[in-house]
Amino acid sequence: GKAEPLKVIISGAPASGKGTQCELITQKYGLVHIAAGDLLRAEVAAASENGKLAKEYMEKGELVPNEIVVMMVKERLLQPDSQQRGWLLDGYPRSSSQAAALEDYGIRPDLFILLDVSEDILVERVVGRRLDPLTGKIYHLKYSPPENDEIASRLTQRFDDTEEKVKLRLRTHHQNVDAVLSVYKDITVKVNGNEAKEHVFAQINAALTHVGEQRKLNSGSL
Ligand code: AP5
Repeated sequence: GKAEPLKVIISGAPASGKGTQCELITQKYGLVHIAAGDLLRAEVAAASENGKLAKEYMEKGELVPNEIVVMMVKERLLQPDSQQRGWLLDGYPRSSSQAAALEDYGIRPDLFILLDVSEDILVERVVGRRLDPLTGKIYHLKYSPPENDEIASRLTQRFDDTEEKVKLRLRTHHQNVDAVLSVYKDITVKVNGNEAKEHVFAQINAALTHVGEQRKLNSGSL
């Protein structure tokens, strides 16, 4: 029979390159990209009740309460497009209780990608990051500069992308990362995220190709 669509989680510290790699992965594999941070920023932009509350936590670099995050992510994962094309979950789970919620719903990924990046590089990436509000594309003033002046003139910066706030976000990350890693130990691939984005993608692509081949073998032998 035909193999089920791929289910992938990507994790890593703030500005480790999750969103950048997700652009490259979805281009090649067609998975639905579900980013907890993007879902939350959409709520903030809509000024909903959840968005107003979420922003208070995001500004402090803390985790937004599970009451807001868990259902939001679960509902997106269960949408028909995610179920049909497979999904790439980015920025969730970020705590053992969030991981437990996924397990309770019977939602388990095929692969857990961990981007490993040193702390000095993270800070440089945060401070230079810019976003194109029109296309959603991620840029960096030094490492991925905009293609032309028109794009350059409309780039924006995230409200939590200051050196001070990334320190808080990093602290939250360190408090929670081990608990999440222990849940997915058996399906984790650790990727060196310090290199140029094409080289990081090459490592991820190799891991995804390997998982795809394993699954073809398994489904063929049944
Ligand atoms: P979220 O939006 O998930 O932010 P984050 O984890 O801090 O990660 P970022 O989006 O900052 O970075 P990224 O890893 O995607 O890096 P990027 O590719 O952009 O979360 C924000 C907040 O929302 C949290 O603080 C929390 O409050 C809340 N939240 C989110 N999820 C939650 C959850 N599950 N529960 C509770 N609260 C939650 O790259 C960064 C920069 O580096 C870019 O400029 C890019 O161009 C550049 N770059 C990328 N790769 C490379 C490379 N290889 N070489 C050179 N430059 C590179």
